[in-house]
Amino acid sequence: MRHAWLRWGSSLAALSLLLLGAATAAGAQQISWEKVNAAFKGATFVNDDKSCASCHEEVAHKFDASGHSEYFAAGKTALRGGCESCHGPRNKHVDDPQPLAPWPSLTKAQQSSVCLQCHAGGARMTFMTGAHLAGEVSCTSCHSAKAPRRADAVLARARATESCYRCHSAAKAQMAKTSHHPVREGRMDCVSCHNVHGSNASLLKAATVTETCSSCHAEKRGPFLWEHAPVRENCANCHDAHGSANRKLLNKKEAFLCLSCHTYGGHINLPRYNRTSNPSGEGCVNCHITIHGSQHPSGPKFTR
Ligand code: HEC
Ligand code: HEC
Ligand code: HEC
Ligand code: HEC
Ligand code: HEC
Ligand code: HEC
Ligand code: HEC
Ligand code: HEC
Ligand code: HEC
Ligand code: HEC
Repeated sequence: MRHAWLRWGSSLAALSLLLLGAATAAGAQQISWEKVNAAFKGATFVNDDKSCASCHEEVAHKFDASGHSEYFAAGKTALRGGCESCHGPRNKHVDDPQPLAPWPSLTKAQQSSVCLQCHAGGARMTFMTGAHLAGEVSCTSCHSAKAPRRADAVLARARATESCYRCHSAAKAQMAKTSHHPVREGRMDCVSCHNVHGSNASLLKAATVTETCSSCHAEKRGPFLWEHAPVRENCANCHDAHGSANRKLLNKKEAFLCLSCHTYGGHINLPRYNRTSNPSGEGCVNCHITIHGSQHPSGPKFTR
């Protein structure tokens, strides 16, 4: 932290917003500390972490070992990175050390704005209008600002799933069902499908359920010569993304799934069509094998 810091609001800072990476993407904005606590009014930045360390030795020590300290020292940010970038201008506090903005006293939106000063772009563009903030979940509900760098702790992806389960027990229960996406096997994780920093319905990575699924199962998307309308519409018409007691993540058991939309399928109710109660059969898809759509000229009934 001994670098020639770019000063707040300088034109150089504006330029580096364009030049630097993720943490300084467009939209970076300083928080109004005065709104957090009127006592910040007229306060200026000390810009000297050593002076903070003289009283906060333990915290400063922890911070020195953190990813943020490392990133700041490498000059990876356009804002002046230091204690005060998260804790506000503290010249008055140094002279008269009163508590000014204890983190828990900030609203979740204020906490998030502090972090978004440097992290506003990319995946987090719409965090402020997303379901997590609306549910009183801020950046620091999931991340620790003073943890070691990504590989260890700040929330390495390998640990993400466990952290999600702290709050989402329903998803955990679904993932435990017989048919499930291989999350518990470690081949995928929650953020394979979700952008937890986002704001669309169900915080999905892509704009819709179907687009999210298609990013990995492109062959089910088509276009097909003969489309099956519910597949075009939404994969979730037939599948539970997290897990199901039925095979292939189906949201209803075999023929009951089809029969929830089709009256007896247009067949006469002959035993050979009636696989509903056949224990070894897989019901309708024994014959309707191209259930997601068919490319065959004579496949309008999805039998080839
Ligand atoms: C990237 C943002 C960030 C930076 C940089 C940062 N802090 Fe913090 N600090 C936090 C957050 C968030 C909390 C709330 C507790 C927590 O989540 O760890 C906190 C808590 C604190 C606390 C009160 C709670 C405690 O742990 O005693 C003190 C004092 C403190 N920080 C001092 C400092 C000092 C001194 C520096 C610089 C050496 C610094 N912080 C740098 C984000 C930051
Ligand atoms: C002269 C000693 C001293 C100096 C220098 C000092 N602090 Fe503090 N700081 C304190 C005391 C005392 C408290 C109150 C602790 C409490 O209430 O538990 C405190 C509380 C805090 C807190 C938690 C409550 C709040 O106000 O948000 C933060 C964060 C903090 N200081 C950051 C800083 C930073 C950043 C600097 C450097 C610019 C700094 N301090 C410099 C003594 C100091
Ligand atoms: C619900 C938990 C959660 C919340 C809330 C959350 N994050 Fe994350 N964050 C994650 C997970 C999980 C990852 C790893 C995902 C990945 O790498 O795709 C991550 C990755 C990151 C990364 C590193 C990867 C990248 O995109 O550059 C940054 C930086 C980050 N988050 C910042 C923030 C900030 C700032 C906020 C608040 C505005 C925030 N996060 C809110 C869970 C969360
Ligand atoms: C002064 C700018 C600044 C502020 C304020 C700031 N960060 Fe960062 N942060 C960075 C930089 C620079 C990086 C490294 C580059 C990157 O990954 O985007 C980073 C990386 C991260 C990462 C990636 C993890 C890793 O180890 O690589 C997470 C998560 C993160 N910050 C969370 C937060 C949270 C939470 C807050 C608010 C408490 C916050 N940041 C405040 C500049 C900042
Ligand atoms: C601190 C608790 C907490 C953590 C940790 C957490 N969430 Fe959430 N999440 C919530 C709350 C609260 C909501 C708001 C909606 C609700 O009540 O379900 C939410 C909403 C969501 C939604 C949108 C739900 C909807 O109906 O649109 C998704 C998806 C989600 N979280 C996924 C995740 C993932 C993935 C992780 C792990 C990276 C995670 N969450 C971590 C508390 C949390
Ligand atoms: C294969 C993709 C995928 C994976 C992996 C995944 N989700 Fe989801 N999740 C979805 C889809 C799709 C929806 C929305 C379903 C809908 O709209 O019908 C959803 C919905 C949610 C919701 C909103 C409430 C609900 O159940 O509908 C939460 C919360 C959630 N997921 C959390 C998680 C957590 C936590 C994990 C990791 C254990 C996870 N998801 C893994 C695709 C996925
Ligand atoms: C990140 C990639 C990815 C995404 C996104 C994804 N899947 Fe999967 N899906 C997989 C993997 C990996 C498997 C396991 C394949 C295996 O075991 O060979 C799988 C398996 C399946 C299975 C078969 C399950 C079984 O029990 O055999 C179905 C059905 C399925 N996915 C549907 C969906 C749906 C619907 C969505 C969207 C909500 C979706 N997938 C999104 C990667 C993905
Ligand atoms: C009309 C109901 C229905 C819809 C909608 C649907 N599926 Fe399926 N899906 C099925 C059935 C039934 C099976 C089991 C097929 C079998 O066993 O032959 C299946 C199996 C699968 C499988 C696992 C078997 C394989 O071929 O790998 C994947 C992956 C899959 N579907 C993905 C998707 C995706 C992605 C979407 C959305 C684009 C989607 N499904 C929409 C009914 C549907
Ligand atoms: C969510 C409702 C829904 C589900 C579930 C569903 N379908 Fe369909 N299916 C439709 C619709 C809508 C059409 C288009 C009907 C039309 O064009 O008249 C269709 C068309 C068909 C056709 C072609 C019919 C024709 O007249 O050309 C067949 C065959 C078919 N579905 C079989 C199945 C089978 C087998 C299943 C179970 C694996 C199934 N469907 C599940 C809604 C559904
Ligand atoms: C033994 C094979 C077989 C089984 C099992 C079977 N079907 Fe069919 N299905 C067919 C054939 C072949 C056709 C095309 C008949 C034709 O073109 O006259 C057809 C036609 C249909 C049609 C379109 C009817 C129309 O008016 O054109 C629907 C819908 C349908 N089946 C749904 C189902 C459902 C739902 C099930 C499970 C309850 C099912 N099928 C089980 C072979 C089967």
